[in-house]
Amino acid sequence: MLCQKQQDLDEMVAEAKKEAKKGEVATYIPALAKADPNILAVSIFDGASHCFVSGDSEHLFTLQSASKVITLALALMDCGEAVVFEKVGMEPTGDPFNSISKLEAQFPSKPLNPMINAGALAVSSLIKGETAQDKLQYLLHFIHRLSGNKHITYNKEVARSEYETADLNRALAYFLKQHHIIEGDVNLLIEFYTMQCAIELTCDDLAKIGFVLANEGRNHEGEVIMPYEIARLVKTFMVTCGMYNASGEFAIKVGIPAKSGVSGCILGAVPNRLGIGIYGPALDEKGNSYAGMKILELLAAHYHLSIF
Ligand code: DON
Repeated sequence: MLCQKQQDLDEMVAEAKKEAKKGEVATYIPALAKADPNILAVSIFDGASHCFVSGDSEHLFTLQSASKVITLALALMDCGEAVVFEKVGMEPTGDPFNSISKLEAQFPSKPLNPMINAGALAVSSLIKGETAQDKLQYLLHFIHRLSGNKHITYNKEVARSEYETADLNRALAYFLKQHHIIEGDVNLLIEFYTMQCAIELTCDDLAKIGFVLANEGRNHEGEVIMPYEIARLVKTFMVTCGMYNASGEFAIKVGIPAKSGVSGCILGAVPNRLGIGIYGPALDEKGNSYAGMKILELLAAHYHLSIF
């Protein structure tokens, strides 16, 4: 039976991999331009001791925007909903992830949701710690608990590369500071945010993190890593905003709570069933992995994984 499942997964990966040819790796963060666009890896975790994997699963990649799900959960645990949602809204934007346009159209000028860059910057400003390193260590500790892997750290080259080129994110952060959504030093926030986005792991790690979200906040050993209500709330944002301005089409075609990152990763959480980690760096124009979305579409159809 396991062999049949492995064969099915390998076939779906081979099929989805063809999609990678349509896309390109991200280059606006120079270090990401080195990625191999032909890679596709997937890991699926159902709470048993091993992940079910196919493709180039040993590959390390950075979380990029998939980190926004994790900082949101941590900020909610530490500060509570009232404080977090004073700074970010709950609505999808229909705009690209780094868009600045709707900020000026809102009063107060708070970002529409925590998955776009502006919203994620506001959430990251709430993470505990005096310095960017303190905040990073605190976040890494949470990621170690989520994944069960204490060795996860961040990629200094990717963090530095983004820090040196993050002018748009700096502009968003200065705008938010002017409008009292964030406080404190913008450079410290950008330093922490770029390290957060550069946290490096494998598909197995990502699948295990997805499993905790899927399993109502408990890891596969039954330990509560986050409250049920926060896992529920975070998964809802993944559905409505996780794939940015492709979230509607993705909900129709796939129907799995998911969050993409421009490294080409996708974090998936099928409620009460599976955590999924994917890496396929060839992206579409909205910043989502072409092959990654395809493998999720094939998996959802084959195993009836849509939540709808
Ligand atoms: O802030 C940025 O632009 C990147 N560190 C993360 C953006 C991202 O991953 C968008 N996702 N598809």
